[in-house]
Amino acid sequence: MKFFVDTADLAEIEDLAATGLLDGVTTNPSLIAKSGGDFFDVIRNICDIVPGPVSAEVTATDAETMLSEGRTLAAIAPNVAVKVPLTWDGLKACRALSQGGTKVNVTLCFSPSQALLAAKAGAAFISPFVGRLDDISQDGMGLIREIVTIYRAYPDTIGTEVLVASIRHPLHVVEAAKLGADVATVPPAVLRKLASHPLTDKGLDAFLADWQKTGQSILS
Ligand code: G3P
Repeated sequence: MKFFVDTADLAEIEDLAATGLLDGVTTNPSLIAKSGGDFFDVIRNICDIVPGPVSAEVTATDAETMLSEGRTLAAIAPNVAVKVPLTWDGLKACRALSQGGTKVNVTLCFSPSQALLAAKAGAAFISPFVGRLDDISQDGMGLIREIVTIYRAYPDTIGTEVLVASIRHPLHVVEAAKLGADVATVPPAVLRKLASHPLTDKGLDAFLADWQKTGQSILS
């Protein structure tokens, strides 16, 4: 499974990229607003830090303007993936951008039928939002299961990667991995939680205390 980080915070991205475990970044207009930076500068800087796909989202709602915005965003850096919403206009823009060789991430996906259309439109990524479905008592992970099943039924014609978005906690990542989703885009705080376990901390403390008693050191 690939790990993307869902943020436009450069300091967080730099810190997480230093682990070598980061495969890409996703942003959206809300995350850009939260960063407080200039959209183009933020995306350019992220693309310099992370070589993998960096999603930058269009803000127009008609296909023609989405297409122009998408081309402008794609020109920022070769690793930009243009994000479009899952609307008819978004699908049209997705088709045109994909045919022109740009990677497209189709976002705001909440149903398997929407995911099927995004694949048909040539999306490189489909972004189903699990947390926002869970928030309204619908089964977010059930949607991932359905999309993975559908895509796997057409291995020769569907190359779209399932990018699980709106992740709220580590179990979302684990469940998505069990279902074989291709990518999880994870908020920085949740990404850090993936590595932590109280028994790891407790065990390490005990090992180090015992080691101390030996009076030895590995490096002289
Ligand atoms: O970037 C899309 C997505 O991950 C949004 O997450 O937490 O705003 O539902 P959230």
